[in-house]
Amino acid sequence: MDLLSDGSYDSGQRGQRQSRLASGFFITFEGGEGAGKSTQIERLARRMRAKKYEVLVTREPGGSPGAEAVRHVLLSGAAEPFGPKMEAILFAAARSDHVEQVIRPAVERGSIVLCDRFIDSSRVYQGVTGGIDADFMKALEAVAINGMMPDMTLIFDIDPVEGLKRATARRGAGDVADRFEKETLAIHRRRREAFLAIAKAEPERCVVIDASADPDTVENVVTAAVFAALEARMPAQKKQTAPA
Ligand code: TYD
Repeated sequence: MDLLSDGSYDSGQRGQRQSRLASGFFITFEGGEGAGKSTQIERLARRMRAKKYEVLVTREPGGSPGAEAVRHVLLSGAAEPFGPKMEAILFAAARSDHVEQVIRPAVERGSIVLCDRFIDSSRVYQGVTGGIDADFMKALEAVAINGMMPDMTLIFDIDPVEGLKRATARRGAGDVADRFEKETLAIHRRRREAFLAIAKAEPERCVVIDASADPDTVENVVTAAVFAALEARMPAQKKQTAPA
């Protein structure tokens, strides 16, 4: 993925003529380490572009120049000595910039936005396993997103033993795990449970994807779920745009 001049990430094909929705669609991809989110985002973007949808691929922490500046501080562990509350606020600051500079403008111009991690990562990594008070996390989330809730969230579920194996293989030998990946298996297990609890609590937004299957199978499941959701929204959009 390349960082574009508007600060977003995109894997190409932007110059083509693409169709826009009457109002955009915001999809987030969540889950533990090594669940294959990035691969599936690329595949879904390719499929959507083939159908002439305008797609923007982005990620957190980062996705806008301001947020990318904060990304390194968070993932290198430079903020770790100052505690999880400091980290949570930095993730929220990065998110606010990303939302206002990249996500909201794209959704408002009718694009489909595919975002690798968003609010649920903060709820899980900082809120649940970081031990931060739920009310504080709620307030921080509200400020960071300012109403920009995802229309749909895919939660990639995988046994952390398998996920960490994949993440290590992807990184290659010699490269070290980032601040959050290097934590104990028990913490990764708690994160898995926390993501599943969010999916259970918000079934109208979240779909759990079995990420242990092979990439082609996962791609088919993701494609079916997303296109069904998009089609479900179409009639409403047509109604909105129909002449009076
Ligand atoms: P990264 O290498 O970008 O992605 P991934 O693990 O999705 O392949 O790592 C991002 C790390 O930051 C990941 O360990 C999860 C963590 N994170 C949080 O702790 N809170 C957040 O709000 C976000 C967006 C990410």
